[in-house]
This record gives sequence, C-alpha cells and structure tokens, in this order.
Amino acid sequence: MHFHILTLAAILSLTTALPTTTGDDTHCAPGTTFYHCKTNNFRGCCTIDPCALPSCPSQTAPSILPTPPTCPGTVQIYQPKTQTHLSGSGSTISTPNFNLTKSPTREWTQTITFSVPKSATECALRWSVPAKRTFQAGDNAVVHVSQGHPATGREIGTADFTNWPGVDGPHKHSVAKVDCMPEMVFGLRLAAESEIFLAQDGQTGWFVEYSC
Ligand SMILES: *[C@@H]1O[C@H](CO)[C@@H](O)[C@H](O)[C@H]1NC(C)=O
Repeated sequence: MHFHILTLAAILSLTTALPTTTGDDTHCAPGTTFYHCKTNNFRGCCTIDPCALPSCPSQTAPSILPTPPTCPGTVQIYQPKTQTHLSGSGSTISTPNFNLTKSPTREWTQTITFSVPKSATECALRWSVPAKRTFQAGDNAVVHVSQGHPATGREIGTADFTNWPGVDGPHKHSVAKVDCMPEMVFGLRLAAESEIFLAQDGQTGWFVEYSC
C-alpha cells in the first residue's frame, strides 16, 4: 500500500507542470460518453443519455436480481411411499399405513421411501403423532430401522413404540440422522414378536425432516 501511495505522489509531482488531465472527468471509458446535465446535475460518463433520468443507471448491477429460492428453513415430509413385505408369500403390497407384525407364523416388514430436494441438508428420520390418531402397539414393539430394504439394509437405529399409543397429546420422536439423498429408502422390522399399527397422514407417522 505505502509503495502505491509513494508512486502516485511521484507521478503527481512530475505532472503538475504539464497541462493537467488529473481530475478531468470528461475522459470516458470505451462505450461510455461524457454528459453534463442541467436537469439532474449529473456530470460524468454514462453509456446512455442520463439527462432525462434521475441519474446514470448503474453500469454493473443487473437490473433484475435472480430471486433466491424461498426456503422456510426446516421442512417435514410425511406420507412416504409405504410398502409391506409379507413373509411366506413373499409378496409386497402398497399401503398408506405403518403396520408391522411379527409372530411365530408370519412377519410383515415395511419399506418407506421419501423424496427430498437436492438442496436438502441435515436430514433426519423421525415419527410423530398428533392428539387424534389411530395407533396401537403391542409389548416390546421395538423396530429395527435400516437404510435400504428391511432384509438387507444397514441398521441405522431403533425406535421403541411400546406404550406410546397411551401417551395423550401430540409427540415427536427422533430416530436417526441420515445422509440426505434425493430418494431415501428405509426398512422397518420388529425386533421381537409384537405388532404395531399407525394410520399415517400429513401430520402422523414417519417423516423426514431437513434444512435448506
Ligand atoms: C396391516 O397389514 C396387513 C398385511 O398387509 C393387512 O392384512 C392388515 O389389514 C393391515 N392392518 C390394518 C389395520 O390395515
């Protein structure tokens, strides 16, 4: 910095004896023209005639700024695509509801699939119920949660539903923080013999929460 100031001072002292151009604002950059307007007192270089305008329009700032995507901060996505895998028959059926059973004779496991935007960060798998819900759970209603199919996915957490149907009022539960991906698939299966049923809707059941 000091070097530049000294250099400038030296040039000024050399040029003082010459017909000076220092401070001459009539020398304009290519593409611009010098204007001196009586109407708005504008004096300077401009690409267009600014005399009928309040001033010379800014040469650099775009006239329309791109609108950043509006994002409310934290978003919850309920109602995943929910599929039930039936042991024995090996068939898979679609259902809106969280519905698991495990007994000596049969087992229903489920896959839930969420779609989140590419911009999503800080994804978490959670479940919640409002005050009014259709919710039943047996004893030992502990659910193994995997990323991927319930039979083959990597376990990322457990969720214990035992006794929660009897807790009045709304409640929310966190199960696992997960890597955000445009399509997120989770497997659900009971750890022991039990059963769970929860009717899912826009504010009930499994949801993914993310920030953006
Ligand atoms: C739970 O899922 C099983 C198997 O798909 C189905 O037979 C049963 O009716 C479901 N329960 C309820 C309450 O919807």
